[in-house]
Amino acid sequence: MMDRTNLLLFISCFMIHSLFISCLASNILNITTDQSALIVFKSQFEHDHSNVLARNWSSDTPICNWIGVTCSSRHQRVAAINVSNMDLSGLIPPELGNLSFLVSLEMSRNKLYGNLPKELAKLKRLKFISFSFNRFSGKIPFFSEAMPNLQQLHLRNCSFTGSIPPSLSNISKLEFLGLTYNALEGMIPVQIGNLGRLKILSLEGNKFSGTIPDSIFNVSTLEVLEFSYNSLSGNLPANMCRNLPSLTYFSVYSNQLWGQIPSTIGECSQLQTLEFQFNQFNGPVPKQIGNLSMLVLLGLGRNNLKGILLIFFSLFYITRKFSHGLHVFYYI
Ligand SMILES: *[C@@H]1O[C@H](CO)[C@@H](O)[C@H](O)[C@H]1NC(C)=O
Ligand SMILES: *[C@@H]1O[C@H](CO)[C@@H](O)[C@H](O)[C@H]1NC(C)=O
Ligand SMILES: *[C@@H]1O[C@H](CO)[C@@H](O)[C@H](O)[C@H]1NC(C)=O
Ligand SMILES: *[C@@H]1O[C@H](CO)[C@@H](O)[C@H](O)[C@H]1NC(C)=O
Ligand SMILES: *[C@@H]1O[C@H](CO)[C@@H](O)[C@H](O)[C@H]1NC(C)=O
Ligand SMILES: *[C@@H]1O[C@H](CO)[C@@H](O)[C@H](O)[C@H]1NC(C)=O
Ligand SMILES: *[C@@H]1O[C@H](CO)[C@@H](O)[C@H](O)[C@H]1NC(C)=O
Ligand SMILES: *[C@@H]1O[C@H](CO)[C@@H](O)[C@H](O)[C@H]1NC(C)=O
Repeated sequence: MMDRTNLLLFISCFMIHSLFISCLASNILNITTDQSALIVFKSQFEHDHSNVLARNWSSDTPICNWIGVTCSSRHQRVAAINVSNMDLSGLIPPELGNLSFLVSLEMSRNKLYGNLPKELAKLKRLKFISFSFNRFSGKIPFFSEAMPNLQQLHLRNCSFTGSIPPSLSNISKLEFLGLTYNALEGMIPVQIGNLGRLKILSLEGNKFSGTIPDSIFNVSTLEVLEFSYNSLSGNLPANMCRNLPSLTYFSVYSNQLWGQIPSTIGECSQLQTLEFQFNQFNGPVPKQIGNLSMLVLLGLGRNNLKGILLIFFSLFYITRKFSHGLHVFYYI
């Protein structure tokens, strides 16, 4: 029996003859396709020490009852996969690109390797992807304008190399971009500043070089900016905090940044963590840091900041300001 979606598809196929072939092609994807895609995925496993999936993903039971698989009740298609932390080792097969109703794909904390297949770009409904803590190789592949609904991309500690593709900035709904601890290099693309809904940008532990593009400080939704442990250079823009009302976490620990710490820092009024250590910042510590009433961690050490007395003065100012009990770490 044909459901309403299929009927509409059928009618539009009938009307638009030139698209007939492609409509037909999308029409043949159904729960059976989903099943064969997951069976191919399962067949790639080399290790599944706990044997959970090997036993549970049995062709005798409907796939919607398989562990880690969630189907949408409306379409009766696979909507979510969560095989996080299941000791899986193997490749991601291109067949996963046939799971056309997939909204969430969580495969973190396994031993998956190889390249991510470009067919995953067919998954237009995806909102959440996590491949964090696996052992992939090669570049960040396909996450370009092809994923219009993606909100969270977690690729932490995945062994990716190469640079950030500028096309990533076309994922206009992106809120979380986590690329921490890969081997990424090159400049951070200016276009990242086009991600107007970005809340969390984590680039820590890579080999990025060049300056932090000013455009990033224009993304007013940002809450977390993590740039630590890279090779970034240049200075921070003087007006850095003019447009970051929600920023709670800013860390540039261990880079080669220089110049003054911007005095507009006091306008990032929600800051709780502020880490500047192990750079070449110089000049005075701006007293506006004393305006940051939410601050619990402040790191300034291992820079060329001017005048130890000044620092003690500002420490005095800060501790007086926070005498209501908040703890400020201040390492020199
Ligand atoms: C899925 O589509 C194939 C090919 O069109 C068909 O043979 C199969 O019966 C369909 N399965 C379901 C569950 O609708
Ligand atoms: C697979 O796991 C699910 C969820 O734990 C369970 O309901 C189902 O009975 C299991 N199926 C098999 C074949 O073990
Ligand atoms: C996946 O499952 C794990 C363990 O049950 C859970 O902690 C995690 O929140 C789930 N992730 C998603 C995206 O549903
Ligand atoms: C699913 O994807 C694979 C590889 O991308 C392809 O060969 C296959 O024909 C696709 N379609 C179905 C219905 O399985
Ligand atoms: C990355 O993950 C591996 C395990 O997958 C772990 O051994 C390693 O310590 C992690 N590295 C970092 C920097 O977190
Ligand atoms: C973003 O997408 C548009 C079309 O949708 C394309 O013209 C442009 O080249 C893309 N930008 C990047 C940086 O890939
Ligand atoms: C930041 O936004 C303002 C106002 O939209 C714009 O004029 C300025 O060019 C932007 N700066 C950067 C570096 O993108
Ligand atoms: C910020 O601190 C300065 C003194 O350093 C003070 O004059 C100013 O009023 C403070 N602004 C706010 C918004 O607290």
